Amino acid sequence: MSAISEVSNWKYSNFLENKKNNFNKKNILDVLPSEEIDEAYNTISKWKNYSPTPLIHLDKLSKKLGINKIFYKDESKRFNLKSFKALGGAYAVEKITKGNKDLVISTATAGNHGRSVAWGSKKLGLKCKIFISEYVSEFRAEVMRSFGADVIRVKGNYDNSLKECIKQSNQNNWQIVQDVAWHNYKLVPKLTMAGYSVMMKEISDQIKNEKISHVILQAGVGGMAAAMVAGIARYLKNIPKIIIVEPESAACVLESIKLGKIKKIFVKKESLMGGMSCDEVSLVPWEILKNSVNYCITVSDDYISNIVQSLAKSDFSNMKIIGGECSTPGIISLICLNNNTHTKKSINLNESSNVLLFGCEGDADEELYQKLLNQ
Ligand SMILES: Cc1ncc(COP(=O)(O)O)c(C=O)c1O
Repeated sequence: MSAISEVSNWKYSNFLENKKNNFNKKNILDVLPSEEIDEAYNTISKWKNYSPTPLIHLDKLSKKLGINKIFYKDESKRFNLKSFKALGGAYAVEKITKGNKDLVISTATAGNHGRSVAWGSKKLGLKCKIFISEYVSEFRAEVMRSFGADVIRVKGNYDNSLKECIKQSNQNNWQIVQDVAWHNYKLVPKLTMAGYSVMMKEISDQIKNEKISHVILQAGVGGMAAAMVAGIARYLKNIPKIIIVEPESAACVLESIKLGKIKKIFVKKESLMGGMSCDEVSLVPWEILKNSVNYCITVSDDYISNIVQSLAKSDFSNMKIIGGECSTPGIISLICLNNNTHTKKSINLNESSNVLLFGCEGDADEELYQKLLNQ
């Protein structure tokens, strides 16, 4: 993005205001309690090689867009696992197994969650079975195998891989560590969210006395977004406007917010943002998101490669940033919001705004990353 004129015609696909917005700290922390958030930080911050990931100031981008500050949480550096997911699955494995070495762990994944579960299982010497759909790249499968996991490929989409995981786990008495909740399965997804909330603890330390005015949160099933909202309730004094961004082809949070209850959507075309290509918001995140979200926005895959390249070329700050496909929608949606004078005004985005974005992953899928970089 060498000139702002190149992106000045970018448009979001869909934008929605949540009419039921009513941010309530107590209600949010009833779903994911402060004690669980604190426990996750106390545990994870003691893991070997733990260090907070960088919070990068995208000063070149903020100058271009006329916004006071843009903070970018760079999760490409998380435990060498290259995404924030490292915080969730591995933490849930540790908490749920409580030192029992005889359990076999299982999960279904789009890639990064499984990597975290496989890594966490390996750390604890546990066997691990990972179910993936036909859309998960062989590169991602290989990384999970490198952590000692058995990777089982299932025909069809993520839902099919989850169904097969549940079926085989029930037959074999394996312990499922899933980041998605369903009826009677909420403890583990809550633990993964508690793990993710470590990001907000770090951010609250990193921003010092700055106030965040807007936060843009990527959503797949909503776990990471809801965990950040809980982190905001737990750690921040100032409550920012909370904006959810999704791929235009997988807007399950937006559609649920529009309807006022969970709506399962039909994903006609899988987004390049594989980790966010989800058809239904998860139960636990929904309890948090339904009243805390201010706005939902969806974006096209068409802009992804441009942002991946600009991050790599240090167009946005003086640092070269490795940002994979799921790291781009925060920046894309911010540019699109900034381009729309009416929406920009209605959400109060202006020269005194401090925006927080999440670079959720690095080159977690190296092959796709190289493709996007060279497109
Ligand atoms: C790599 C990756 N996977 C998954 C997700 C979605 O997380 P969740 O399914 O918890 O909403 C994201 C969010 O941006 C992501 O970057």
